[in-house]
Amino acid sequence: MTQAEKERRFQEKIDKEIKIEPNDWMPDEYRQTLVRQISQHAHSEIVGMLPEGNWITRAPNLRRKAVLLAKVQDEAGHGLYLYSAVETLGTSREQTIDDLHSGKAKYSSIFNYPALTWADIGAIGWLVDGAAIMNQVALCRTSYGPYARAMVKICKEESFHQRQGYESLMKLCSGTPQQKAMAQDAMNRFWWPALMMFGPSDAASTHSDQSIKWKIKRFTNDELRQSFVDATVEQAQILGLTIPDPNLKWNEERGHYDFSEINWDEFWQVVKGNGPCNKERLAARVKAKEEGMWVREAATAFAKKRAMKQSA
Ligand code: 3HC
Repeated sequence: MTQAEKERRFQEKIDKEIKIEPNDWMPDEYRQTLVRQISQHAHSEIVGMLPEGNWITRAPNLRRKAVLLAKVQDEAGHGLYLYSAVETLGTSREQTIDDLHSGKAKYSSIFNYPALTWADIGAIGWLVDGAAIMNQVALCRTSYGPYARAMVKICKEESFHQRQGYESLMKLCSGTPQQKAMAQDAMNRFWWPALMMFGPSDAASTHSDQSIKWKIKRFTNDELRQSFVDATVEQAQILGLTIPDPNLKWNEERGHYDFSEINWDEFWQVVKGNGPCNKERLAARVKAKEEGMWVREAATAFAKKRAMKQSA
């Protein structure tokens, strides 16, 4: 069968909503863009643990500590789930982690912003996990089977993440004026970076057209960003928080909220590694690997010894 015929049959499966599984034939470019996207998604989950992990020992009470601990543990699980999905495409865990540490692979820009106050932890849950849910619910229908199935489990846990963040901000917004001001400050600092999570504009997106054709993506970056804004404005109103955008306004004709242009210079600066925390985040991940090397070496030695015993 010619390459062209294989590609035609592949696209026919995609168009018929037949999931692509690890042992199915797929174009190299389809495999490569999945490895790129899923590995970067996994890196985002793992790096995303860092800003929140800093606040586990500083949580204001035992309940908040337990909830945050559960959320951070969930994120670790999401990362491992997604790293396993990458391995089904033939890329080793070591290679994937090395790509992050060498700077070859990306992770979500949002995690290069610092979590400065306790209110930031609420804003991260509400806005960052809220944006992630908008994106990930669509990915439950992505064409690659292992990725779609991983998303179903992950989305259930993300809903808890978003809910706990919103509840935490609800508490602050109905507290003292200082607590309300802390929540508004977090809103001011996290709103725009949360919109940037959806990626560049559709006009600037390099992968979207092909990812939509292959049904890796079901919606474009701007479509998901718009859905997130439309869903979040009312939530902010209930909290009594002001969204830091003077041009945010309901447009009856469009049936959506109009909002200001995103600062794309800031976005690309952060993506290119010049954000407030990029260096710190990567250094933390490299240090974690180095300090955990003895565990991997011990496990490998144990596995080798057991294999030798069994074969003797
Ligand atoms: N941060 C860093 N890089 C970004 C980015 C962001 N917010 N948005 C886009 N980019 C990068 C892309 O990776 C691509 O670079 P590459 O070719 O080197 O990979 C380039 O900018 C062009 O962007 P495209 O729109 O062409 O790229 P995609 O088609 O891949 O779309 C995406 C970007 C929407 C993020 C898509 O990759 C995606 O849906 N990924 C899966 C979801 C995901 O990764 N979410 C990240 C957050 S996960 C999370 O928040 C955890 C939760 O528990 C809180």
